[in-house]
Amino acid sequence: MTTLERPNLNDREFKKLSQFIEKELGIRMPEIKRVMLESRLHKRLRALSLNNFEEYCDYLFNDKSMRIEFPLMIDVVTTNKTDFFREPDHFVYLENSIIIPRLKETGGCDQFDIWSSASSTGEEIYTLAMVMEGIREEYTRLKYTIAGSDISQEVLSKARKGVYHISRIETLPMHLKKKYFLKSKKPENELVKVKKILQKNVNFFHQNLMDDQYDIKQQFDVIFCRNVLIYFSQEKQKKILLSLHKHLKSDGYLFLGHSETITGLNLPYISIAPTIYKKT
Ligand SMILES: C[S@@+](CC[C@H](N)C(=O)[O-])C[C@H]1O[C@@H](n2cnc3c(N)ncnc32)[C@H](O)[C@@H]1O
Repeated sequence: MTTLERPNLNDREFKKLSQFIEKELGIRMPEIKRVMLESRLHKRLRALSLNNFEEYCDYLFNDKSMRIEFPLMIDVVTTNKTDFFREPDHFVYLENSIIIPRLKETGGCDQFDIWSSASSTGEEIYTLAMVMEGIREEYTRLKYTIAGSDISQEVLSKARKGVYHISRIETLPMHLKKKYFLKSKKPENELVKVKKILQKNVNFFHQNLMDDQYDIKQQFDVIFCRNVLIYFSQEKQKKILLSLHKHLKSDGYLFLGHSETITGLNLPYISIAPTIYKKT
């Protein structure tokens, strides 16, 4: 396939692929997303030198190649948009209404375990680390761990590296840029790397939120599950939110994305602020 030849996804192929994606990843693929799916999968056709989607389906739905192709398909099918301090009021709430009040109660000696369950390329995780390190300047006995997981191995690998184009931190205040990022020795690369201090308590792992059981045994004080539920049906959202519930400590907090809600799902959480919930 050359760049000029762009094979179409016919009805049968679209049905097969969209049903598979919805079943395995939970991501809804209604007709309206057909063009987007087609264009994203073109990348895989090109990479595999395949001529059309029939060949791609044969390759994907083959017991031997499925194991190799499935993770690569996930990388192109998922939407990984994220930012440092995305939806900033969440971080203000976390600091001022959850962490600091508890530190005051415990005389400043406490541990917080946080999980970002759809962490994409890591900006959400390192934002959390900046917030925690900021609090530690005053509450030096504060301990914390931050776990990051995602279904896409490609974004996990970027997150682990913590290397970003300089434009990604453009809007951060200068004191945070200076304190937490190192510029590449080759200015022409226009890259920055997060400093070790942001990585020391951070751990990444692969997790499909659709799995019946999660690989992680730990329980968390706070779970971020932001801007991923929108891609799932209500039934799957409910399943995921119940699974996350098992990994929250009693009185733990759940943060969803600003366009996500659990209203009407009848789940054991209470709303304490817009898109922030507490386990009941
Ligand atoms: C739009 S990003 C959101 C990133 C970050 N939470 C934020 O709000 O900026 C959504 C992430 O969810 C991940 N994702 C999609 N389906 C998933 C699933 N079934 N299990 C785990 N992660 C999934 C995608 O790979 C992507 O990185």
